[in-house]
Amino acid sequence: MHDPANDFEPEDVGVERPMATTFSAIAETRLSRRAALLGAAAAGAMAAVPAAAQTRGSSLTFKDAPVVYDDKSRVAEGYREQVVVRWGDSLFADAPAFDPLRQTGAGQERQFGYNCDFTAFMPLPLGSKSSTHGLLCVNHEYCNSNLMFPGVNARGNINKEQCEVEMSAHGLSVVEVKKEGSAWKIVQGRYNRRLSMSGMAFRVAGPAAGHPRLRTKEDPTGTLVIGTLNNCAGGTTPWGTVLTGEENFNGYFGGDASKTPEARNHRRYGVQAYNGAPWSNHFERFQVEKSWNEPNRFGWVCEYDPYDPNSSPVKRTALGRFKHEGATCVVCPDGRVAVYSGDDERFEYVYRFVTAGKFDPKNRAANRNLLDEGTLSVAKFEADGTMRWLPLVFGQGPLTQANGFESQADVLIEARRSADLVGATPMDRPEDVETNPVTGRTYIACTYNERRAAADAADARTRVNPANPRVDNRTGQVVELIPPGGRGARADHAADVFRWELFILGGDPADPKSGAKYGPGVSAEGWLAAPDNIGFDPKGRIWISTDGMPTQANPPRPDGAFGADTEGPGRAVTKRLYAAPSGAEVCSPCFTPDGRTVFLAIQHPGEARGSTFDTPSSRWPDFRPGIPPRPSIVAVERIDGKEIGT
Ligand code: FEO
Ligand code: CA
Ligand code: CA
Ligand code: CA
Repeated sequence: MHDPANDFEPEDVGVERPMATTFSAIAETRLSRRAALLGAAAAGAMAAVPAAAQTRGSSLTFKDAPVVYDDKSRVAEGYREQVVVRWGDSLFADAPAFDPLRQTGAGQERQFGYNCDFTAFMPLPLGSKSSTHGLLCVNHEYCNSNLMFPGVNARGNINKEQCEVEMSAHGLSVVEVKKEGSAWKIVQGRYNRRLSMSGMAFRVAGPAAGHPRLRTKEDPTGTLVIGTLNNCAGGTTPWGTVLTGEENFNGYFGGDASKTPEARNHRRYGVQAYNGAPWSNHFERFQVEKSWNEPNRFGWVCEYDPYDPNSSPVKRTALGRFKHEGATCVVCPDGRVAVYSGDDERFEYVYRFVTAGKFDPKNRAANRNLLDEGTLSVAKFEADGTMRWLPLVFGQGPLTQANGFESQADVLIEARRSADLVGATPMDRPEDVETNPVTGRTYIACTYNERRAAADAADARTRVNPANPRVDNRTGQVVELIPPGGRGARADHAADVFRWELFILGGDPADPKSGAKYGPGVSAEGWLAAPDNIGFDPKGRIWISTDGMPTQANPPRPDGAFGADTEGPGRAVTKRLYAAPSGAEVCSPCFTPDGRTVFLAIQHPGEARGSTFDTPSSRWPDFRPGIPPRPSIVAVERIDGKEIGT
């Protein structure tokens, strides 16, 4: 039945709550337990350390990048940054040159898209471990209309032609890149591809394919969707394809969803009476009162094969529908594949899908539809350090006709309501979820949640809980999952019960009110806030990029990329490798197999409050008059060419 307490309330966005940074007793318990597990010597180390303390024990040798918040980017001393591909760069020989005053939808379709987020480096040829030649597979999450077009306000008062540019600037890019000497170059080769919101049909597969709730006037079969939307983070599969998460799809729809047959469902996903969706002014598809099933065709994980430019991309409905930050794979000891995904919104959940079939490393084609059959579960964290995966299976527990579910398709289309009913743990905006290939432990970046309330709050869903222990949490945390079975490939990611720890609680460790926690010796420059994306280098060190630091620190600090050991004396001691230009978040961290290059996606540079096309807060990376800031992929490397961090 409909439980209003579980509804997302977009009108709550921006509501101020009283500051209260008390670090809950529950979190102290979890950290103390972790310290006990690490041994007595480590116990003292769990206390916040003075900002002036030196980094001790970290395997990372660099000194933190300068913490300066202005229109420029910065790297740690001894490193260099190279811009590899920018918004508007030509991916094909017939692409028009970038001209911000003359962008067209057709031209943008042949150019690198806007707001680059997830980035994978897929070596060429397929199956090789090349670190100098490969495909950058990039998500383009959204558009900053007011920075892309002159005379457009922050609400995006764009015309139909500008909508077409934006639709083509969304989606995905596959870009062949090659390193010549020390320079990364774009190759306009046969693999280059754009998959946008214009033109390309995505096949729908899995239990919800063809379901009546996915059918529209344009697609009466419910199996073919034009485009992919708000692609945030992603992942790669063991068989060499790319997964991409459709995140905040709700904001593109206009009209009053409460007047439609999908009212309850749309309310739970934030598809509401909304007039700020400019595409809906020009395209009926985005008018929810006329096309109320269209939102059900987004919020999925899509899979595509970058090595076959003629292949059709696929929406994999078995993985559930929510605001997928990303989707990352691990092969379990028995050969099944686990896929982790966060639902990035306040008080939403962490999910895991486990395939029914097994990965076949010898036959790539045999894995083609592996993600269509399996079990989706959602995470419940206990105060005693256990974590249970609760299955979302039609007919089990509350997921029955009595609660309005007729099939597994309904469970998947309304994954959020399904997860509410089984009692999952509401998280502080879970973004990337990624597994350390060396240790087999999995990490969840919970970016922040300033609406997290005290233990006695009236709305139980908003109360602090063991994995989300801070009231008014503005700096986020990284949660560590420990599957049973052993290290690395022995870790059983298909198990029903894991253990968990708090790995990092973000914020300034020198501020006693922050409740921040790191390993011993984190520096005044090395701490982080608002963790978003996670990557691992070949040595199994974690790399975390942030989205929101400028608003978490006073004076503002740039977002960045931070590295840390996950084991040993340098465990959870973060160090800053990169500082972003004003307004930008940092996404990706993606390493080449040799660990000598890390690709970072610099998203929405110049987005700082009050920015316009004419007066952006940064013109990074071109710094030319009249040229707006351009979201770009950069390669960060050591000047001497050696492995990063060593
Ligand atoms: Fe698109 Fe959750 O960041
Ligand atoms: Ca993100
Ligand atoms: Ca990642
Ligand atoms: Ca984010």
